[in-house]
Amino acid sequence: MQNIIRYEGRIIPVVGTILESLEKSGISIESQCRGGFCGVCTRKIRSGSVVYTTEPLGFMDDDEILTCCSVPKGEVEIEV
Ligand code: FES
Repeated sequence: MQNIIRYEGRIIPVVGTILESLEKSGISIESQCRGGFCGVCTRKIRSGSVVYTTEPLGFMDDDEILTCCSVPKGEVEIEV
């Protein structure tokens, strides 16, 4: 299965982390540390799952991900 990100009805090509992929598609979301510490880049995940490139230390709920240090595992849908 191809790795893709769905966001606001758009299909976002995966280029690096989810945060980087969104930015390269012209979508700006809040971020600070970009290293999995602060939790500012947290988004809810509607479907799918992710793999973390570095261990996430920022606080998040079970249905949330840190976009700055994660990549999709297959197809993932992120909430705005
Ligand atoms: S920007 Fe700090 S955890 Fe993602």
